[in-house]
Amino acid sequence: MLTIMPIYGTRPEAIKMAPIVSALQSTADFNCVVAVTGQHRAMLDQVNKLFGIIPDVDLNIHQRNQSLNGIMARTLEGMEQVLALHRPDAVVVQGDTTTSTAGAIAAFNNGIPVIHAEAGLRSGDLLSPYPEEGNRKLTSQIAKLHLAPTTISRANLLREGIHASDIVVTGNTVIDALLATRTKNVSFDDPRLEELSESGRRVLLVTTHRRENQGEAMRGVGRAIAEIAKTEPEVSVVLPVHKNPVVREAVLPPLEGLGNVIVTEPLSYGEFTRLMSLSTVVLTDSGGVQEEAPSLGKPVLVMRENTERPEAVTAGTVKLVGTETARIVEEVRRLLNDPAAYALMANAVNPYGDGLAADRTVAAISQLFGFGKRMSDFEEAI
Ligand code: UD1
Ligand code: UDP
Repeated sequence: MLTIMPIYGTRPEAIKMAPIVSALQSTADFNCVVAVTGQHRAMLDQVNKLFGIIPDVDLNIHQRNQSLNGIMARTLEGMEQVLALHRPDAVVVQGDTTTSTAGAIAAFNNGIPVIHAEAGLRSGDLLSPYPEEGNRKLTSQIAKLHLAPTTISRANLLREGIHASDIVVTGNTVIDALLATRTKNVSFDDPRLEELSESGRRVLLVTTHRRENQGEAMRGVGRAIAEIAKTEPEVSVVLPVHKNPVVREAVLPPLEGLGNVIVTEPLSYGEFTRLMSLSTVVLTDSGGVQEEAPSLGKPVLVMRENTERPEAVTAGTVKLVGTETARIVEEVRRLLNDPAAYALMANAVNPYGDGLAADRTVAAISQLFGFGKRMSDFEEAI
């Protein structure tokens, strides 16, 4: 039997890899050996627990304030032994984190085929998102099979000289995860959120963590949230704050003492999807949230200058607002106070997937090994 090794290490990779792990485990054709690096610790374990995944391998590389080279070095070193022990026929890496690219390089250096899920996203700016744009381009150079989420990402790969026969458009597995999770009856652990869900108050949901936004831009995000909370007292702002101490030090100080701001620890994926569903507006610099919120019909304001996910911008449900405090405040307040502007953005669209991405992934892997049948590619309807 062929051994396929998914390798991942952070929260978003775990959420997006979970449907692939589940689909691999439910076929008789593959032995699925799950390897995690532990780049994230608490936030990774939270997702694995929710999806019932017990990793076969855990490199446990996490360190407080870890450096990019530290993550990469510990992953390369750890994977060397793991690959020698398990001898997978292929590895699957997801997206553009340092775990993802290091996992791909470790496999490539051992002559093991690399399957790249969420391939072909490009912002066109090597420094934004940083280091992710570089990571995803590096992985594209050494991958054997490229699983593009959309036709736009496929076109990006073709433009860079990747052969059409090595690309399959699957949709993004984040939509598989979202569809599987949102129907579950989840209650909030935090009583403030349970109370909020029953209050009928409007909710501004905020997440922020991007490396290139850390420092002054993120302090500005904190000031923007504070100003919105003060000028829109009937709105509740919820900020499930990333574990990164650098993020916390920047964004939290202006929010102290504001009664309509709820700061929480990272929420379980089930709680977070429920919170997205009951939100009025989403303000974020997250990649995954940009993909999920449009399918829930929520307007998303993205605190970045560019995006590698243009599909929902084209569809009109996502808008880039940058990181300048005054602009963020203005754009959020417009959506909260102008019903026509709100209605224009609050459309449910699904440009990122139809819930079958993991099945297409397994079909594409089967085909790579010369058996099974390729499913028809995902086509985004915009
Ligand atoms: C990483 C990814 C980024 C992804 C993001 C998702 C890289 C270079 N970056 O960024 O692409 O969008 O994850 O959230 O791969 N920490 C904890 N516990 C945790 C997780 C993080 O304490 O469970 C703290 C640690 O102090 C750590 C810091 O957060 O040093 C940053 O984590 P790291 O994985 O290096 O980068 P992220 O900014 O999370
Ligand atoms: N998410 C979560 N709990 C939270 C915040 C986010 O489960 O408290 C989920 C969210 O639904 C999305 C993913 O985490 O699927 C995004 O992770 P993050 O923003 O950390 O990374 P990115 O997508 O930007 O790489």
